[in-house]
Amino acid sequence: MSKRYLVTAALPYANGPLHIGHLAGAYLPADFYVRFKRQNRADIVFVCGSDEHGVPITIAADKEKITPQDVVDRYHPLLKGSFEKLSIEFDYYGRTSSEVHKKTSQEFFLKLLEKNIFKKKKEKQLFDPAAQMFLPDRYVKGTCPVCSNPEAYGDQCEKCGTSLSPSELINPHSALTGGEAEWRETEHWFIPLGDSQPWLEKWLEHKSYWKSNVLGQCKSWLQAGLGDRAVTRDLSWGVPVPLPNAEGKVLYVWFDAPIGYISATKEWAIQQGNPELWKTYWCDKDTELIHFIGKDNIVFHCIMFPAMLHSHGDFVLPQNVPANEFLNLEGNKLSTSRGWAVWADEFLEYFEPDQLRYVMGSIMPENKDADFSWKDFQQRVNGELADIFGNFIFRTTSFTVRYFDGKTPAVDTLSELSKQTLASILTQKEKISDAYERFSFKEAISESMQLARIGNKYFTDREPWKTRTTDSASCAETLHVSLQLCAALSVLLDPIMPQKMKELRSQLGIDFNDWQNVHEHMLKAGDPIAEGAILFAKIDDERIQARIDVLHQKAASFSANTSSEHSDAPFKEQSPEIIYDDFAKVDLRVGIVLEAEPVKGSKKLLKLLVDIGYEKRTILSGIAAYYSAQEMIGKKVVVVANLKPRPMMGLESHGMILMSENREGKLVIVGTDNEAGSTVT
Ligand code: 2FM
Ligand code: ZN
Repeated sequence: MSKRYLVTAALPYANGPLHIGHLAGAYLPADFYVRFKRQNRADIVFVCGSDEHGVPITIAADKEKITPQDVVDRYHPLLKGSFEKLSIEFDYYGRTSSEVHKKTSQEFFLKLLEKNIFKKKKEKQLFDPAAQMFLPDRYVKGTCPVCSNPEAYGDQCEKCGTSLSPSELINPHSALTGGEAEWRETEHWFIPLGDSQPWLEKWLEHKSYWKSNVLGQCKSWLQAGLGDRAVTRDLSWGVPVPLPNAEGKVLYVWFDAPIGYISATKEWAIQQGNPELWKTYWCDKDTELIHFIGKDNIVFHCIMFPAMLHSHGDFVLPQNVPANEFLNLEGNKLSTSRGWAVWADEFLEYFEPDQLRYVMGSIMPENKDADFSWKDFQQRVNGELADIFGNFIFRTTSFTVRYFDGKTPAVDTLSELSKQTLASILTQKEKISDAYERFSFKEAISESMQLARIGNKYFTDREPWKTRTTDSASCAETLHVSLQLCAALSVLLDPIMPQKMKELRSQLGIDFNDWQNVHEHMLKAGDPIAEGAILFAKIDDERIQARIDVLHQKAASFSANTSSEHSDAPFKEQSPEIIYDDFAKVDLRVGIVLEAEPVKGSKKLLKLLVDIGYEKRTILSGIAAYYSAQEMIGKKVVVVANLKPRPMMGLESHGMILMSENREGKLVIVGTDNEAGSTVT
């Protein structure tokens, strides 16, 4: 029987799109690992889903004056779609607003209650009488006791970075209504993590094989001593506490989210037509449970969730939690609130998923923070994927097609160099396997590329373009050996670049993708080799510079929006006076952007499909330098609805989106909250 694995990737919050930091942190390593294990015939289930509860979702809803359900209904399909476009293939992608999840997390809570695990405690919390609700920490504002910033939040001051609690704020008030907040008593259930500390310490003692960055964090939490952690909140959005007299109370998002892994597995089993199958993965101790997460989730997956699982008693515990560190962008911390981010979908508008997977895999923050830069991306695509890997494949296959009638040449005897080169297939395969097993994906990639390097050097040293006329047996031998390396690479690099390797295998006529079938003689003499397109095209400087410019423009427009400092440039002169009737001719409507995509050949334009209530319109808008297509989806805009259609770049624009332009020429969309179709007067 092959080994059984349950692999999870952190459930992303359904309040925004994915950026490259998320990908490098949890999702790509998880997908690399699962693909490698599948090639090795492991019995493996890979689950993820949208984390649809928690204060970040309600804040996003409040901002837009929509319901939390509206927020998650918008982002859940977007997240799911982004993963699919990136070839990140879950067996099941669930969501925590599902009925199965509600039931599963409520049952989990009740089981811990029944086992007397929880403590029930009364505590004082800030209450907003105007909104008639208890305020989560993020909904409290006040003056920071450290730097006197009057806009600090109840959980953190964003100016000086200090972690705070609402009671530390000077003059705390409600961020929701701006009004006074008062301390009121409320009762919650707490998990006394301190009680689990001796068990956790023992359990972690056996995890010396975990990554040192992960163990380091665990040790420092344990050294500080674990306390009671509330597992319920006074909120209207979340899984309701399944008890009488618990109205207005929901499970804390970090209690229900990891249980989402169990619910997703249950939903997967239902989809398989075998609803009990989830138990094989969660309740049989032979299953290895592996959580892929980013650095900020370590405490929850290595301390809180294991304590919950242990207290519950029915489930397996994580066997490993190979968390990654943070990815920076162009030398600075990624920040969605400062516009310093590259979104996954934005990336895919300009480049191929396998280019992204390869480069992210090569620079992954496995043991320490790492940096993504556009120039480095270009250099790796051009210098490694195109010049080394692509070049080796292309020169080998095109030579075979041209001079060997598209058939794998036969060989009689092999030279020492040819034997060594062939032997490197198995040596590299071992090294690559070993790296995957240790979650060292950067190493797995560099050892895979090493095989392409060996192939390239072999091809160059053997000069088949010369021996073709002088020594045809030697030429055939060169191509035979080179083709075997191409074949091995097409399987060995599959976890990293599944689309390209599938193309390559079809070019080489290889109809399997099993690790055990990777050896020195994957192709037999006479096996057909098809003419193939160049696998990886080079990226020119102009395309990379455009991405760098967009990143800086976006960050500048964010800071122009949030900063109180203005430029010294003169304001644009006011236009000549008009009468009201002139203005009234313009029919302005509220619209919501349903779809957005870049316009081929234009750096400025985005093509938008906008719902203006009574109809849907295609509108071309010159905002591509400031907003990615991905960011535009779901935005409310003001549309000049009765503007005569205008041809642009071979398309037709049926309206115009209103934008404000500051003194530096930066564009910002004019927003509104009203429903689509509303007039703007
Ligand atoms: O940090 C986050 O994005 C969380 N939504 C991760 C949750 S992981 C799990 F526990 F569900
Ligand atoms: Zn501060």
